[in-house]
Amino acid sequence: MRTATMTFKEQILEGIPSQLPNAKPYDVTINHAPKRKAILSPEEQRLALRNALRYFEPKHHAELLSEFKNELESYGRIYMHRFRPDYNMYARPIDDYPAKSKQAAAIMLMIQNNLDHAVAQHPHELITYGGNGAVFQNWAQYRLTMKYLAEMTNEQTLVMYSGHPMGLFPSHKEAPRVVVTNGMMIPNYSKPDDWEKFNALGVTQYGQMTAGSYMYIGPQGIVHGTTITVLNGFRKIKKEPKGNLFVTSGLGGMSGAQPKAGNIAGCITVCAEVNPKITQVRLDQGWIDEKITDLDALVARVKKAKTNKETVSLAYLGNVVEVWEKFDETNIHIDLGSDQTSLHNPWAGGYYPVGLSFEDANEMMANHPELFKEKVQASLRRQAEAINKHTAKGTYFFDYGNAFLLEASRAGADVISDNPTLGREFKYPSYVQDIMGPMCFDYGFGPFRWVCASGKPEDLEKTDAIACKVLEDIKANSPKEIQQQMADNIQWIKGAQENKLVVGSQARILYADAEGRMKIAKAFNDAIANKEIGYIVLGRDHHDVSGTDSPYRETSNIYDGSSFTADMAIHNVIGDSFRGATWVSIHNGGGVGWGEVINGGFGMVLDGSNDAERRLKSMLFWDVNNGIARRSWARNEEANFAIKRAMEVEPNLQITMPNNVDDNLLNTL
Ligand SMILES: NC(=O)c1ccc[n+]([C@@H]2O[C@H](COP(=O)([O-])OP(=O)(O)OC[C@H]3O[C@@H](n4cnc5c(N)ncnc54)[C@H](O)[C@@H]3O)[C@@H](O)[C@H]2O)c1
Repeated sequence: MRTATMTFKEQILEGIPSQLPNAKPYDVTINHAPKRKAILSPEEQRLALRNALRYFEPKHHAELLSEFKNELESYGRIYMHRFRPDYNMYARPIDDYPAKSKQAAAIMLMIQNNLDHAVAQHPHELITYGGNGAVFQNWAQYRLTMKYLAEMTNEQTLVMYSGHPMGLFPSHKEAPRVVVTNGMMIPNYSKPDDWEKFNALGVTQYGQMTAGSYMYIGPQGIVHGTTITVLNGFRKIKKEPKGNLFVTSGLGGMSGAQPKAGNIAGCITVCAEVNPKITQVRLDQGWIDEKITDLDALVARVKKAKTNKETVSLAYLGNVVEVWEKFDETNIHIDLGSDQTSLHNPWAGGYYPVGLSFEDANEMMANHPELFKEKVQASLRRQAEAINKHTAKGTYFFDYGNAFLLEASRAGADVISDNPTLGREFKYPSYVQDIMGPMCFDYGFGPFRWVCASGKPEDLEKTDAIACKVLEDIKANSPKEIQQQMADNIQWIKGAQENKLVVGSQARILYADAEGRMKIAKAFNDAIANKEIGYIVLGRDHHDVSGTDSPYRETSNIYDGSSFTADMAIHNVIGDSFRGATWVSIHNGGGVGWGEVINGGFGMVLDGSNDAERRLKSMLFWDVNNGIARRSWARNEEANFAIKRAMEVEPNLQITMPNNVDDNLLNTL
């Protein structure tokens, strides 16, 4: 009743209300996070409750204590559901936010976008994507943070400890408005169960890549990245996508982008998925063209598509192992092959073993976990055997960063290289080792993105046109080494409006190198100064050239041993923060899991000012070239080429270059 009479701005400024809002019923229409495992001892549970109650005045403790205890027992976490705001959660136009700093208002917009019900996976648990990628740990943190952002000036910096707003500290207008850390642990306390325990205690969170840095923009990012991977995969094998076949699996959160990306790239995609509900969602959404439930029908349909050189995406409702085996028996040639089952989570629903129905598998994993594990491992051995038969006939197979090769090897499948070397342990490469690393990241191409803070679709259309023009101008004078990347992104941005990729805020992504990112950003800033468009928020995915140190993904094509270090990601965020970022973030675990990766990112608000122009030039140059320099030092030829070009453009850039040792000399040892 009380909040019904308050405006949106008043509710933001209220922060944590001094009068308790009514308790909220559990909304069964919402997609909720799974119950987390009960990991706390009775003494630790008391500590978790003590920690949660410190957000509230003592007069409320008695009432909240039993409620929070109940949440901890029911969900494994204390989300403080009662404090979820009553207003709708979505990115409002920037001027709708109560704020003394427009930079802070832009961050509020981004936070609300990451919690929008159309965008977030488990919005009531403050989870944006990836099952546990959190923006905040609880609703008290959300409320406090929004209040701080509303009250802060450009002479202050908000300090965020894993979702908890530690407070506002005096700084200056060139400093970031917000500095975010997520899941930063003492290295020896960074195992998956450490996350379970310390997250349940309310002292840390898993921010994924972009959830905890407020930079997630819906499925568009993954569609773009997958399109680039499929296009470059076909290039790797020197084939046109048209009329050629890509076989993979998974129609889930990220994997569901594969058939849409295959269509944009122009190939025939066969994607197997065991879950009927998920398959239907992708069909209804238009991300797959046809659903096929019978293997013979699938074979006939693929033959027809090959003969007619169709661009088409076919979902096979069934196990991917059956597809690999059937296509081998019937001599269907697969040009490009991969797998996107969730093998980072093999025993609890990430991978469904062949030979069991979907229902039986679900029953077995809950009630007979040891037997289920055996079935998964036997299935992986069968899948690898079928894949090996295809690769012997010329299929190019790559691991999609889902731990397929890792789990298959643990299951005893024949996937180990005949000549294993550091970083090349398996028969097949990962998508970053052969495709994204050498073709994109080493040249500085990565997932640059922007959000139109006005919320107007017209602004997005104008920025698409501006970005396209900039890329075309750059391409006219680009060296041959990067012509293809430029062309791909021009084609992408030209089709972006038609592909209807916006979910949530008016956002766009494309891959650009340092020159492209700087020139596009400068052109946006000019357009804002000329009042052609409103403010723009720049950012990127953490899955980029410089932002992420991850030995089995982003930095898996680094072979000097430094892929197990995290200096690059740490330098990245420190460097961005004193070169003009509006906010910076550094995370533990984004993408591949807690303890396996360190990744960082930034957000930058463009307001058309000269200050913004200075900042964008300084920060974007560093943000890309830091990673290229490191990749070059690791002796990656493409990065060597790119950093030399950067030094020619910017005389103040001086990079230590590696000298190569003659193998014959080493062989004398
Ligand atoms: N797309 C990318 O760019 C990218 C990058 C890096 C890593 N990944 C990895 O890809 C994996 C998938 O991510 P997601 O978000 O789509 O996960 P998800 O769990 O939402 O989807 C995986 C899907 O695979 C299906 N599946 C499982 N076993 C199967 C089988 N044997 N046959 C057919 N279908 C089966 C599941 O039903 C599920 O729908 C993750 O491990 C993720 O880390 C993706």
